[in-house]
Amino acid sequence: MKIPLTGGCGFIGSAVVRQAICQEGHYIVNIDKMTYAASEGALEDTLTHQSHALLRQDIYEGAGIRAAFAEHQPDVVMHLAGECHADSSIDGPAAFV
Ligand SMILES: NC(=O)c1ccc[n+]([C@@H]2O[C@H](COP(=O)([O-])OP(=O)(O)OC[C@H]3O[C@@H](n4cnc5c(N)ncnc54)[C@H](O)[C@@H]3O)[C@@H](O)[C@H]2O)c1
Repeated sequence: MKIPLTGGCGFIGSAVVRQAICQEGHYIVNIDKMTYAASEGALEDTLTHQSHALLRQDIYEGAGIRAAFAEHQPDVVMHLAGECHADSSIDGPAAFV
């Protein structure tokens, strides 16, 4: 399947990307804003895999998300982008809400 996955460079998302591509044979459109929590290194060999496309995109920006969906015509969506670090929630709670 072709799966847009948000937050695919985060702790959980990067593990899902590796599993989905290497074990399950899916095509992943990885939509990630690349915040302080993101790591391309965590994607290991899947970063340059032919079944992986990394879009540096904020999910708040509707036009960019609509364009990605129009281009890739996904079967399903996996949503893992989010702010979840407790210290950051004290410094700037708005992004968490
Ligand atoms: N890690 C845990 O133990 C745990 C437990 C329960 C639930 N969760 C939830 O699972 C999700 C993923 O957790 P994680 O630990 O992988 O988080 P993480 O902080 O490691 O990764 C989040 C990813 O989302 C991206 N991101 C953040 N805001 C974005 C935006 N506006 N647009 C696009 N990308 C954006 C970041 O760049 C990062 O790569 C979160 O919603 C979190 O609340 C995590």
